[in-house]
Amino acid sequence: MTTHDIATDTAPADICTEAEIQDLVHTFYAKARADEALGPIFNGMVHDWDEHLATLSDFWSAVILGTRRFTGMPMPKHAAMPNLKAELFERWLVLFGETTDALPNRALADAAQEMAKRMARSLWYGYQLSRDPNQPLTELRSPAHPEPHPEARPA
Ligand code: HEM
Repeated sequence: MTTHDIATDTAPADICTEAEIQDLVHTFYAKARADEALGPIFNGMVHDWDEHLATLSDFWSAVILGTRRFTGMPMPKHAAMPNLKAELFERWLVLFGETTDALPNRALADAAQEMAKRMARSLWYGYQLSRDPNQPLTELRSPAHPEPHPEARPA
């Protein structure tokens, strides 16, 4: 077996197309812009939406498909934003969850949700550390793991 055969045999197939990624990004940011809590932040900071949507499509293409078009720096950009709170990241995740839950492509939905949770958690840690490295870090409440219903708890 040649090196080429090994690479071909083990390379994972792409789970979605670029068009599906663009669709996801456009649908999500339409929701985020219209959201009572997140809308004012996005609409106040993003002046060129075509450019923002292209950047975010590159980002998701990089993390889902392994392309290399994204060259941004999410951590310092979010750290520089005034007044971010855990609730805003949690809201972001709820809207992203709603958007991805509606996708027919379940492999894309699962991969995107997993990555979004990891990124949100990491951006929120980075945000807290950039504000006050001595404060204890708080966790995001994950919409995928709500508190168990009281009746479901063991007695
Ligand atoms: C509270 C939640 C969030 C808010 C309010 C927010 C807001 C923003 C805004 C306003 C920008 C544009 C910044 C600029 O151009 O200067 C931006 C960029 C970006 N955001 Fe977020 N964001 C949030 C969460 C997330 C999460 C969870 C992810 C990833 C899953 C993410 C990924 C990105 C990326 C990749 C960029 C582009 C960074 C770059 O150009 O270097 N954001 N965000």
